Order: sequence, then C-alpha cells, then structure tokens
Amino acid sequence: MKRILLSTVCVAVLGLAAAAVEPAQAQDQGSVEVLHWWTSGGEAAAVGVLKQDMESKGVAWQDMPVAGGAGEAAMTALRARVTSGNPPTAAQLLGMSLRAWAEEGYLGDLTEVAEPEGWDSVIPEPLQAFAKYDGHYVAAPVNIHRPNWLWSNAKIFEENGLTPPKTWDEFNQVAEALQAKGIQPLAHGGQNWQDTTVFDDVVLGIGGPEFYQKAIIEADPEALGSDTMVKVFDQMRKIRGFVDPNFSGRDWNLATAMVLNGEAAMQLMGDWAKGEIIAAGKTPGVDILCTPAPGTEGSFLFNTDFFAMFDVGEERRPAQLIMASAAMSPSFQETFNLAKGSIPARTDVPGDKFDECGKQSMADIKAAQEKGTLMGSLAHGHAQPPAVQGAMFDVVTNHFNSDQSSADAAKALVDAVAAAQ
Ligand code: BGC
Repeated sequence: MKRILLSTVCVAVLGLAAAAVEPAQAQDQGSVEVLHWWTSGGEAAAVGVLKQDMESKGVAWQDMPVAGGAGEAAMTALRARVTSGNPPTAAQLLGMSLRAWAEEGYLGDLTEVAEPEGWDSVIPEPLQAFAKYDGHYVAAPVNIHRPNWLWSNAKIFEENGLTPPKTWDEFNQVAEALQAKGIQPLAHGGQNWQDTTVFDDVVLGIGGPEFYQKAIIEADPEALGSDTMVKVFDQMRKIRGFVDPNFSGRDWNLATAMVLNGEAAMQLMGDWAKGEIIAAGKTPGVDILCTPAPGTEGSFLFNTDFFAMFDVGEERRPAQLIMASAAMSPSFQETFNLAKGSIPARTDVPGDKFDECGKQSMADIKAAQEKGTLMGSLAHGHAQPPAVQGAMFDVVTNHFNSDQSSADAAKALVDAVAAAQ
C-alpha cells in the first residue's frame, strides 16, 4: 500500500515537474502559418480553438485570414503564395481544389502521423477520397458541413401560424404568405457561391438524388439541359422574388443576422450559419429552426474543410506534423465542430454534446450513406473541378440577376460546362 502511495506521489511530483518545464519546451516547436477564410463571428471562434490548441503545444500560430465566403478570395491569395515559392504551412481547402493542388505536386506526405494514428479507420471513405492522393494523406479533414439546410426564425413562424416548408411548393406558399404580411421571406446574399448554394438545394429538391447525381456530379449534358433543369431555373426565378432589393453582394453572415434579428424569416445556407447562431447566444433548433432544404430530406449534400499540408521542407515540417495530428485529435474535433456548426470528420467522436441540429446531421449522414444519397456540394467544392464549378457558378448567377428565360439558362449551362471541361 505504502509502495503504491509512494509511487503515486512520485508520479504526481514528476508530473508537476514536467508541467513546470513544459512552457520552456513548448516554446520550441516552431510555427505554422495557416491560410483560411474563417472570418465571421462563428468561424473566428472555431479557428480560435485550433490556434489555442497549437499554442498549448508550443507551436506559434501565424494567422493568414482571407475574408470571403466559400474561399474564392482565399484561393487567389493561396495561388500567389505558392507560385512565388513561399507556400503557407497549411491552407483550408475544399475537396476538389485540394485534389487539384495534390495533382500539381505541391502537397506534402502525412503518412508519418496518419499511419500510427490510424486515420484510415476513423475517416469516412468519401472524405478519404479527397484527403489522400497517390495512396497517402496530403490533408487532414476537420469537419463535415451540410449545405442543404433551411434556417427559420421560430418566432416569426409561430406568430404567423406557419411551419418550415418541406417541398418547394410549400416554400413558395409560405414565402407568399409572409410577403403578404409585409415580412421579408428570405435572407440572401447575392454572391455566386450563395446563389449556387440555393441552386444545389433546388436541383436536389426538385429533381431528386438521382437527378442531382446525373446533373451535378456527372455533369451529364442531357440532365443539364433537361426539362427538369428548366423547372429548377423556374424555381430560382421565384426565389429571386422573395429576396429584398439590397441582397446584391451581401455576405452570408449578414443574411444569417437578418434571420437572427427577425428582419427575414428564412435562409438557405450551410450549417456554418449555425456557428453564427451560437456566437449570437441563440439556440439552434429552438430560436432558429433547422430543417433540410425543401425537398431534400433523406439526402445529404456535404462539404468538408481540409487542412492541406504543403511541401514546406524539413525545417518547417515538424510543426506541420504537430498541426496535422492536433487537427485530427478527437477532442479537438469535438470542440472545434461545436463552435463551427459542422459535425466531426472522425466517426468516433461522441455526439452527446451536440445540439439538436448537429445530432440530426449525424443521423442523416449515416442514413444517406446507406441509401447512396450522400453527395458532394457543387457550391462548396465537392462535385466538380474548379473550372467546371466556376462555369456553373457564372450561369446560375447570371440567370439569378437577369431576366434570362429558364430554357436559355439550361442551354447556357450545357454550353458552359462543355467549354470548361
Ligand atoms: C466552408 C465553411 C465556411 C463557409 C462560409 C464553406 O465553403 O466549408 O467552412 O464557413 O464556406 O465561408
């Protein structure tokens, strides 16, 4: 007994001694420079979790935020850095652009941490397909976002005796009812990626999962130019009529704020909007309701934020590996995703701390994977390579901001995709 006690004390004392010297050791782990586009309130809270985690491990954090939802501006900044021979340690990338950087040969090899930590057994296969290139990991996936959500202000819905719409017809009825009462139905920011986030929902909601697969994932010209696609553009035109006149160029988080403040009833947006709800001290699922975007129940569009690790040379590599390992740790993935609005990329993180919407995401993604209705988001870089994605963005946004007919828009989509392929 005495021996046990003594050794316990020894361990404790040694532990204290180790803790006491840790700051000195901790300062010596180098630094990481991280490029990302997480600049809204909820996003900044989430990235703060990683920064703190790294600093606690003695790795200095050099922040390189490039504002702009969905990362378009960040991608321009990244290209400038890499092509001038000075890549950041890590960059936030979405699946298809991650693949493109890997193909260009700019990314490092994370086998050294991925293998002993057993990443293969905890990262879902659809994410591995992006995180690995040529058989080895080049990036760490930190989350799974679901872009096909509808966020509704509970008070507005209750006061007007309405429930969140489940189909696009219901959506139109609810929006018209709100409009008749002088309430702004939809908060939207007119930027190409936001328009396409809505477009993804409409393609999936009107055409169904098989149609989304054909048109968006396979870019099948017949599906792109079909009558169903014409109906999709008809619905996009309707949606345009439910948006306020100042929508052009508005950032997504300002649109979320409109729903939070009761200036608008709904927003069609990915669950990074939930990060804003949480940062504003409101409860997702209670103050702001989450339901799958109309017609998309049973399907799960996904996008994942990866930290792509650039080939930065031997000197900067140890800190990079510490970051890769930290980003994949279960406790980090839990804390980070509680703030970010997404769910963990790892399959072994318990869901009990997540709110109602997070729990629904976790259940829905499982069901969708089993049914084959888990599909990548076009708007958020998991359906088409950047060139084709850009061509589709242009068509969607041009239609949304003009009086182009639905038939002409569908035809333009076929042509634009063919030219970009
Ligand atoms: C990213 C999210 C981000 C959102 C808005 C998405 O493409 O995956 O992490 O919060 O864009 O910027």
